[in-house]
Amino acid sequence: MTDYPVYDVLIVGSGAAGLSLALRLAQQSAVRIGMLSKFSLKECNSYYAQGGISAVIDRDDSLEAHISDTLEAGVGLCDPEIVTLTVSQGKECIDWLLDQGVPFTREEPENDATPLHLTKEGGHTHRRVVHAADQTGKALCNSLQESVLKTDNIDLFEYHSAVDLITTHKLGERGQRVVGAYVFDAKTNRVGRVGAKILVLATGGASKVYLYTSNPDTATGDGIALAWRAGCRVANMEFMQFHPTCLYHPDAYSFLISETLRGEGGKLVLPDGSPFMHRFDRRAELAPRDIVARAIDYEIKKRGIDCVYLDISHKPADFIQSHFPNIHSRCLELNIDITREPIPVVPAAHYICGGVMTDRDARTDLAGLYAIGEVACTGLHGANRMASNSLLECLVFAKQAAIDILEELPNLAAPSELPAWDESKVNNSDEEVVVAHNWDELRRFMWDYVGIVRTDKRLQRARHRVNLLKREITEYYGNFKVTSDLLELRNLVIVAELIIRSATLRKESRGLHHTLDYPVSQPDSPAKPTILTPEVG
Ligand code: FAD
Ligand code: SIN
Repeated sequence: MTDYPVYDVLIVGSGAAGLSLALRLAQQSAVRIGMLSKFSLKECNSYYAQGGISAVIDRDDSLEAHISDTLEAGVGLCDPEIVTLTVSQGKECIDWLLDQGVPFTREEPENDATPLHLTKEGGHTHRRVVHAADQTGKALCNSLQESVLKTDNIDLFEYHSAVDLITTHKLGERGQRVVGAYVFDAKTNRVGRVGAKILVLATGGASKVYLYTSNPDTATGDGIALAWRAGCRVANMEFMQFHPTCLYHPDAYSFLISETLRGEGGKLVLPDGSPFMHRFDRRAELAPRDIVARAIDYEIKKRGIDCVYLDISHKPADFIQSHFPNIHSRCLELNIDITREPIPVVPAAHYICGGVMTDRDARTDLAGLYAIGEVACTGLHGANRMASNSLLECLVFAKQAAIDILEELPNLAAPSELPAWDESKVNNSDEEVVVAHNWDELRRFMWDYVGIVRTDKRLQRARHRVNLLKREITEYYGNFKVTSDLLELRNLVIVAELIIRSATLRKESRGLHHTLDYPVSQPDSPAKPTILTPEVG
């Protein structure tokens, strides 16, 4: 049993949300911060972000326009107060990132225009996406990670996974408050306990619950499952976003072709070269993502084709190479020259709009527990997230949380001694194959039955299977020592169940939730989020 120091704040996750929170808190040198990263520091959704960060910076743009585009993409389910709060902090967050040294792409400004190059994506009526070529996430993470590694009051633990939250309720104490977490060290295979006055979930998304995804291996919905098991409500889990254009190639693993390619003029075409998006939406390639992904899914299924194509080869080669250096070189490695030929693409699971319910200060239902970034459901995205609003949300709610936490900390005492992790009743697994098989089965039936287009029958099938798997995984977890794969599977099955339950409850099609049994939206008066409340024993 390893024991870790007791922290003022324990941040679970080191993507855009976790890193920016750590840096904002660390400005107060007396605050001791612990930060966990499930794998290496670089492995997270944030690192792979391509398109950029939305913010009102152009003088012809306005906060009202960004707000209205976000509300429209979210199809009646965004919280207008949260949208206004988020959008109005865009410029400040970009300035903060510039102060942190993030090398955003610049251009020669005309008159008093911004020197930052702004690109465009679906749903945005203006150019407002700040970016670092087509590797915005890498540029952002590299800068923030460098600062975190140099900061004395932040202790970083790579290859450490939070297993479960420890609450006063579980300790049999009065009240209900988080006081720490059990943590699995993947290098030593041991579980230890970390005490904290405040714990922040910044664990990212859950798209690994689907067979095909743009996300790296970290995205297994751990934070959602941790919070759910500790008694927090979750909302809008049916709104899983499928990115329309992931590279379709047998040797490409989860490689995204950024929406900014369409923003800069890329056309979606069928195998015979004919465009099709104009038949689905007046905004064609720049319609919000739910519409584009559904259109591609429809064409693929109707025509029995493997993929559609994204063609930007009509643009000059030097324009393509300078705007999309990473996409260009990755495709070239696979013998696709995007300056001359179209790129084969398919939709894949990309982003979960739902998550742990939080308020405007990122507080969850459980005292002392905050959630920021993709793990949270703030109300910003509603039924469909607009491109590049996610990194913005990470930054804004990291700031909101930092302000609230710094106000709160002086009133909090260190938690009392936490009980040790008990392994006395479990053995080493002699059947690892069960874990591998269940991982595969879960992701496959979620793809087949709870994908872009749903029906009651398919959801019913999925529900039946998830119940069986949950029972099997719970039993397995009770008998064997934990491993990284087992911990993730235990979380994924909860996330799958929450998605299926939420999708079953929504008897309409709206945004990312599309069902053939209820093909239209209920009249908007007013649209309601799907909120699930756990039973805590
Ligand atoms: P992440 O960056 O995913 O970080 C999660 C962290 O939590 C990781 O450090 C992980 O190790 C850790 N973690 C998870 N579980 C545990 C656990 N149990 N214990 C300890 N640590 C844990 N959004 C935009 O706005 N603009 C874009 O251009 C854009 N492009 C994208 C491109 C791709 C390919 C992908 C996948 C996503 C993109 N998104 C984009 C979405 C956006 O990147 C993510 O929503 C955002 O980065 C999430 O940040 P985060 O900090 O919440 O989570
Ligand atoms: C992309 O570059 O297409 C991803 C942008 C996003 O998910 O916001």
